[in-house]
Amino acid sequence: MANSTVRATFDVYRYDPAHDAAPRYQRYELDLAPHTPVLTALLRIRAEIDPTLTLRYSCRSAICGSCAMQVNSKSRLACETQIGPELARDGRIVIEPMRNQKVLRDLVVEQEPFWRNYDKIRPHLILDPTKPMPEGRENPMTPEQVERFRETPRCIACAACYSACPAVEADPGFPGPMALAKLYRFVVDPRDQAHQDRLVRIQTDGLWLCLRCHLCTEACPKDVRPSERIRDLKEMAIAAQGGTEPGSRHAIGFKENIRERGLLSEMKLVRQTSGIGGLLGEAGQGLRMVRKKPEILKRPHRIEHLEEVEKIYESLDHREAPP
Ligand code: SF4
Ligand code: SF4
Ligand code: FES
Repeated sequence: MANSTVRATFDVYRYDPAHDAAPRYQRYELDLAPHTPVLTALLRIRAEIDPTLTLRYSCRSAICGSCAMQVNSKSRLACETQIGPELARDGRIVIEPMRNQKVLRDLVVEQEPFWRNYDKIRPHLILDPTKPMPEGRENPMTPEQVERFRETPRCIACAACYSACPAVEADPGFPGPMALAKLYRFVVDPRDQAHQDRLVRIQTDGLWLCLRCHLCTEACPKDVRPSERIRDLKEMAIAAQGGTEPGSRHAIGFKENIRERGLLSEMKLVRQTSGIGGLLGEAGQGLRMVRKKPEILKRPHRIEHLEEVEKIYESLDHREAPP
């Protein structure tokens, strides 16, 4: 074996629902240069060892988004992930299909729910019919207006964020980080006339189901930072409509609650989120909670040095608002 190669072990998820009772992992070993992309290794396995291995790919240049998969439990583009660092860290390479999507065969998943959620946010410009496009030219934007899209145009629709998202796992109706980042892009587009309507609709279409865990931003291979754009959408929704939804009331209540004493009053937060009616409506659940955790009825004390908390709030109050 040449010095420039390493013995690489791959444990690859295999499952053909038409023939297999359950998924299994199949081990393959190859001598490869450390800079070999995972996708190249899988294609060699398919060409030289096992032609039945099924995977999806196209550009091999980190542009089309087709080859996203789990590499050592992280959502990655197989064509840009080199085997060397993976082997150095984990000693082997475990390849699995993307999460939160049904496996069709081996590493190929069903993408229909991902695209259906994307379609739901109306990912196209909705123009004002009273403002026709300038005669003979495209609708121009200033560099400052383009800047407001932030990193969203970099998205290649690979679904790595969707695969990593616990809100998608908990509720398949949640639009998902990519769709919400795209929605942000249209909300800030000055040529779009539906931004107010978009903000109103998304408040009841899952915006507040986002858990703010930032796993989507961590998973994104293009640094689109979807969780930050979701945060901006939430701020814009509150600015446009105030606390009209349980989600926005929860966010506003949480902020006020901590500012007051430096500690969360859980009972007060439930009241702020659901109102007295909601509190009574959830009385059964509330009583069970109180039985388990009676201390939630106590009003929390004010923490020492509450003025330090106030300083954080003041700096946040003076932070630049989203566009
Ligand atoms: S921050 Fe929100 S959208 Fe992103 S992974 Fe977490 S729950 Fe999903
Ligand atoms: S936001 Fe990032 S991870 Fe999500 S689909 Fe776009 S490029 Fe992929
Ligand atoms: S094959 Fe296109 S992004 Fe990897």
